[in-house]
This record gives sequence, C-alpha cells and structure tokens, in this order.
Amino acid sequence: MTSRDPDIDLLMAAARAAMAHAHAPYSRFAVGAALRLTDGSIVTGCNFENASYGLSLCAETVALANANTQGRLADVRAIAVVGGALDGSESATVTPCGRCRQILQEAEQMAGRPIAIYCAGAVGGAIIEHDLATLLPHAFGPSDLGIPPIRKS
Ligand code: THU
Repeated sequence: MTSRDPDIDLLMAAARAAMAHAHAPYSRFAVGAALRLTDGSIVTGCNFENASYGLSLCAETVALANANTQGRLADVRAIAVVGGALDGSESATVTPCGRCRQILQEAEQMAGRPIAIYCAGAVGGAIIEHDLATLLPHAFGPSDLGIPPIRKS
C-alpha cells in the first residue's frame, strides 16, 4: 500500500521524527512509532536500549506507555512504525515484534476496536498495513481475565 492518505502520511512523519531520538548505541538500529488517538492527536515513542541489552524497550512499547501515561490507552486508533540502520545501510519495513504485538493487544482490547498498524522503512517507500488479529492470532488478553473494554459505545 502506497498511501496518499494525509492522516497516514502525517502519522508516518511523526514516527520518523521520533525515530531520530532513538537511543540505540548497541543495535545501531533506530525505530520510531506514532499513535493516532481518537481525537486525532499523536503520541510517539522510539526505541530505548540499555547496556544490559535485555532491558531494551521497543518504540511501539514506549509509545503505548506514553499514551497510557496520558490516560489514553483505550483511545489508540492507529500506529505507524518505521525503522532502519543508523548508518543508513538498511531501511527495513519494521513490523512490531512479538512483545509489542502483545502490548498492542492490551490497547486494542481496552479500546474495544481494532488498531490499524502501518509499517514502512526509515526513509519512505511502501506502507504495509496490518491488523493485529493477523499478526497475533488467538491472542491472550484482558477479556481472558474478565476485564472489559473501557469504551462502552
Ligand atoms: N525494535 C523496535 O523498537 N521495535 C520492533 O518492533 C522491533 C525492534 C528495536 C529493538 C532494538 O532496540 C532494535 O530495534 C533492534 O532490534
């Protein structure tokens, strides 16, 4: 999908701006994520690595935690994810990792509606659209523990 939808292009631009702040001295691979909320506002995140490696946080997780901090976890409608090597040698189409898919599942179920997932490389190119039901089928989530969506309508 090559999008000319201005909302998607805006979200992609926000993800790329966030990517510029990646703390990725170990992998040298920067990722940015941008969430579009119900009111059109945008919340971003970038990967935040750690010298202990395993404690590193992905861009999508940071963005979702930021939305939650604003009391907006259930208001996430879409996410854009971009990434690539810091030296510019690789501009991957970054699809959320397994842990981020599970965290997206939390937001999607609390929202009570699907979150559109748009993935692209660091510098442009095609935008691939995914849905979480495909990326994480048969997911375990809040409803399995009796937690209903926040959104009632
Ligand atoms: N990374 C993300 O931020 N999101 C993903 O979905 C995949 C990977 C980060 C983690 C690490 O800082 C770097 O990319 C290389 O794996």
